[in-house]
Amino acid sequence: HNADKGEFKHYMLKEIYEQPDAVARTIEMGIDKSETAKLRNDFLQRHETQLSGIRHVQVLACGTSYHSGLVAKYWFESLTRIPCSVEVASEFRYRNPVVVDNSLVICISQSGETADTLSALRDIQKHTPAGLVSLALCNVPTSSLVRETDIFLPTLAGPEIGVASTKAFTTQLAALMLLVMKVGVIQQRMTNDYVSTLIGELQLLPGQLHASLNLDTPIKTMSESFEDKRSCLFLGRGLQFPIALEGALKLKEISYIHAEGYAAGELKHGPLALVDKDMPIVVLAPKDSMFDKLKANMQEVHARHGELFVFASESSQMIAEDRLHVVYVPDVCETLAPIVYSVPVQLLSYHVAVMRGTDVDQPRNLAKSVTVE
Ligand code: AGP
Repeated sequence: HNADKGEFKHYMLKEIYEQPDAVARTIEMGIDKSETAKLRNDFLQRHETQLSGIRHVQVLACGTSYHSGLVAKYWFESLTRIPCSVEVASEFRYRNPVVVDNSLVICISQSGETADTLSALRDIQKHTPAGLVSLALCNVPTSSLVRETDIFLPTLAGPEIGVASTKAFTTQLAALMLLVMKVGVIQQRMTNDYVSTLIGELQLLPGQLHASLNLDTPIKTMSESFEDKRSCLFLGRGLQFPIALEGALKLKEISYIHAEGYAAGELKHGPLALVDKDMPIVVLAPKDSMFDKLKANMQEVHARHGELFVFASESSQMIAEDRLHVVYVPDVCETLAPIVYSVPVQLLSYHVAVMRGTDVDQPRNLAKSVTVE
């Protein structure tokens, strides 16, 4: 490999630690370090006409890239009021879906060679709905996906070797936020004030990611409780729900422990039946608009003897107690919190996998790039 592991035991760990830089580079595509009030003039400038005509967003992706699409849906709809649908490419392809006129089809893929994603894009292109604009959010500029789309929005993560995607995911999120802002600005769907507030918050991100890497030691300690477990739940609400799904995917793919990501409000509709003292429950709990509701969900679990492992804001004043473990994550604005909360779930999965002695960078049965259907 042209990338070197350096001082790190695994590529995955190295790639987790590269996130502050990778995200900073990606953000700089849209934001000038010295300019805090607006997006750079040259960001997606050639595509302004195309982007000004879109009225609907359709995201297609697989796996981790699908999870970044789920976050983008929350952002597009809440910040720009443009409707956004997200679907795994392998389902979208085979159900004769509707692609409305003036859709922006965003294909998210680290590799740009994922067969399901490419095929779903090609199917849409065959039917050429009016005003179709296609965009590749991709980490490999020379990939098939980039060649076959109208717009290329790069993630500047650098080569990702570990099969478990980490820095590709957080850079996808950073780039998606820039895209949401760009569309919001050119269609006058976001106020200049709000855009400049978000730009200020984005500039804090690399530092916050860096601070979240300092949680490595407490998370390693936490991971000891997972070593002999057979099954695990990840809970989040709102923007943290996709991060719960991503945490569960990371844990299963590298530690081989069964894990499910759930929207915490859905617990009482079924999965609560699983909860007992042997079921660890990881909760993504930033102090945001959903925090009080989430606390009630945590109490439901705790009352049924579940053991809670909570990633909470420093300012949340959550106190550890019996069967309730807390790791404090740096405070971050609600909109960008999913990017920062990705780090603790990556570190947790990593340490559990190392403890269980799996092949972290090359888990069994998986390929880095799935080029067959
Ligand atoms: C992530 O950890 C997985 N290995 C996998 O889900 C991956 O994200 C998926 O196969 C999509 O790959 P892509 O981003 O290269 O299209």
